[in-house]
Amino acid sequence: MSLTIITTGDGSHSLRNEALNETYHSVHGAVQESVHVFIRNGLEHRLQDSHDEPLSVFEVGFGTGLNALLTVHYALENAVLLSYTSIEAFPVPEEIWRTLNYASTEEAQKKFYSLHEVPWETEQPIVASFRLRKMHTTLENVILPASSFDVIYFDAFAPNKQPDLWTLPILEKVAALLKPGGVFVTYCAKGQLKRDLKSLGLTTETLSGPPGKKEMVRATRAVAG
Ligand SMILES: C[S@@+](CC[C@H](N)C(=O)[O-])C[C@H]1O[C@@H](n2cnc3c(N)ncnc32)[C@H](O)[C@@H]1O
Repeated sequence: MSLTIITTGDGSHSLRNEALNETYHSVHGAVQESVHVFIRNGLEHRLQDSHDEPLSVFEVGFGTGLNALLTVHYALENAVLLSYTSIEAFPVPEEIWRTLNYASTEEAQKKFYSLHEVPWETEQPIVASFRLRKMHTTLENVILPASSFDVIYFDAFAPNKQPDLWTLPILEKVAALLKPGGVFVTYCAKGQLKRDLKSLGLTTETLSGPPGKKEMVRATRAVAG
């Protein structure tokens, strides 16, 4: 896997997968995009309605660990308990994750490194309010209990680069993981995705995207359904 570190529009790093010619985040701003799509429109939105503790998050594509780090910060700043499950088929090599510029303090750097260093497959505490289970597997193969997640961060590579992860059967598998009332968020806003999510019975919203991107999608499982 050939990965190159790039600096995005907000100054934060991302990676480019050279074989796919695809970046891990928006080139307009990696942190900006993750905060907008996953934290504000996913996690924070769900917390307005859910009092479940810990709130459970599932991420497709652990990648650089940026979404996980931002979620740790959110848990600490907002005093919420979170249980975070993330899958990754091709873990980023250590010499790359150690150089990413996501942490602005020594404390944050320690947390970022520990997100990468904790063992795979078993749930591990990162801070008291945030537990992480990383799974080294693919979305196609992973088996997780149905109706077990409040929030799904769907952060696969784009449909034109990795169409296998955006098919109706895969989306059906992912949608089945949502608890009633749970939300699925993604940076992608393709018409086919919205039609597929709707056909799976989810209430699908097109929201404004992060800077540089017009739209994003949030899909919610009905409370009774
Ligand atoms: C858009 S990047 C994810 C960015 C990540 N959330 C982050 O904050 O850096 C997509 C990720 O999905 C991973 N991936 C690719 N194929 C996969 C598969 N079949 N199952 C699970 N993850 C996969 C890639 O290796 C990559 O890390």
